[in-house]
Amino acid sequence: MQGQQNKAIPSSFLCMNFLCILLPLIVIGTSAAKVPAVIVFGDSSVDAGNNNYIPTVARSNFEPYGRDFQGGKPTGRFSNGRIPTDFISDALRVKPYIPAYLDPKYNISDFATGVTFASAATGYDNATSDVLSVIPLWRQLEYYKDYQNKLRAHVGEIKANETISEALYVMSLGTNDFLENYYTMPGRSSQYTPGQYENFLAGVAENFIKKLYGLGARKISLGGLPPMGCLPLERTTNFVGGNDCIPSYNNVALEFNSKLKILTVKLNKELPGIKLVFSNPYFILLSIIKKPSRYGFQSASVACCATGMFEMGYACRRGAMFTCSDASKYVFWDSFHPTEKTNSLVANYVVKNVLAEFL
Ligand SMILES: *[C@@H]1O[C@H](CO)[C@@H](O)[C@H](O)[C@H]1NC(C)=O
Ligand SMILES: *[C@@H]1O[C@H](CO)[C@@H](O)[C@H](O)[C@H]1NC(C)=O
Ligand SMILES: *[C@@H]1O[C@H](CO)[C@@H](O)[C@H](O)[C@H]1NC(C)=O
Repeated sequence: MQGQQNKAIPSSFLCMNFLCILLPLIVIGTSAAKVPAVIVFGDSSVDAGNNNYIPTVARSNFEPYGRDFQGGKPTGRFSNGRIPTDFISDALRVKPYIPAYLDPKYNISDFATGVTFASAATGYDNATSDVLSVIPLWRQLEYYKDYQNKLRAHVGEIKANETISEALYVMSLGTNDFLENYYTMPGRSSQYTPGQYENFLAGVAENFIKKLYGLGARKISLGGLPPMGCLPLERTTNFVGGNDCIPSYNNVALEFNSKLKILTVKLNKELPGIKLVFSNPYFILLSIIKKPSRYGFQSASVACCATGMFEMGYACRRGAMFTCSDASKYVFWDSFHPTEKTNSLVANYVVKNVLAEFL
């Protein structure tokens, strides 16, 4: 209940300092983009609507989702507006947003410069994508092979090969393996300790990157986990901890991230010509969550949509009458996903600190 009261505190000031400092730093020269396309694999953090075209409840193609997106339209992005890969693509001067591969409004002409195969509620583990019948990571790779064929037919083999090797590949997933699967469903938690499960997932990530490399990818960003114990949904369930972040979940995220970081070092040595980087959203997000007012936010503990405590997806629609009027005052849009403003801060941070070498 405390959370709901937080939502009513009026704005005293809106500090945008961080944005103002950061934006000029990512402005780049007018030379042609070095990255001809942004190609995305992952979960709801980077799904632009693929789940609209498969039978699953893990959807967000209805109001109030997307109300701050171009045209105020819900697209299937789990936010009020753009998601991190849209901002990354924009910062790399590729295109303002990345379309979903299964969306029939787009075709290979659009996908030639960027596409997402991501599916909300998926993970590295096949058992995670099974929970809500979404697109497993291995199938995202099958779609990518299909995309390569279409690209070769569309722009010719030479140009397609160039796009394939020069494109930036973004991988963003893993949170669901822990929160939707390991800590929620029976199965994995009786087979593996958290540390063993981290190793299992890192092994899947390694295999995936090797396959992607085998298909011609060279510039790859492997995304780390956010401080997932601080998602409003997890805080809501932390009764004994006074609705604070759940430390054990944050520790798992830190531990898994360090394993992914080690993996990137290893694969950069093993695979000639690969430029694999580790994009870590953990500390920038934690900083925003711990000091929201420094970034112009009023609340980090509850989300904008509905009561802000547990709703996402269809529950967000049902509770829409409680939804906040200005999402830019909230770190989180629904109980599991950041607002567009947070996405922009995190994406720009990653562009400046990690992806800058691809500019
Ligand atoms: C893609 O769609 C656009 C407009 O919807 C159309 O003009 C274009 O010819 C299509 N391209 C292909 C390769 O089908
Ligand atoms: C996931 O499922 C695919 C397709 O059945 C299979 O090829 C792959 O080995 C599975 N991955 C793991 C880690 O079990
Ligand atoms: C394009 O890439 C494929 C796969 O690596 C390769 O077999 C083919 O020879 C390349 N074609 C050209 C024209 O470079």
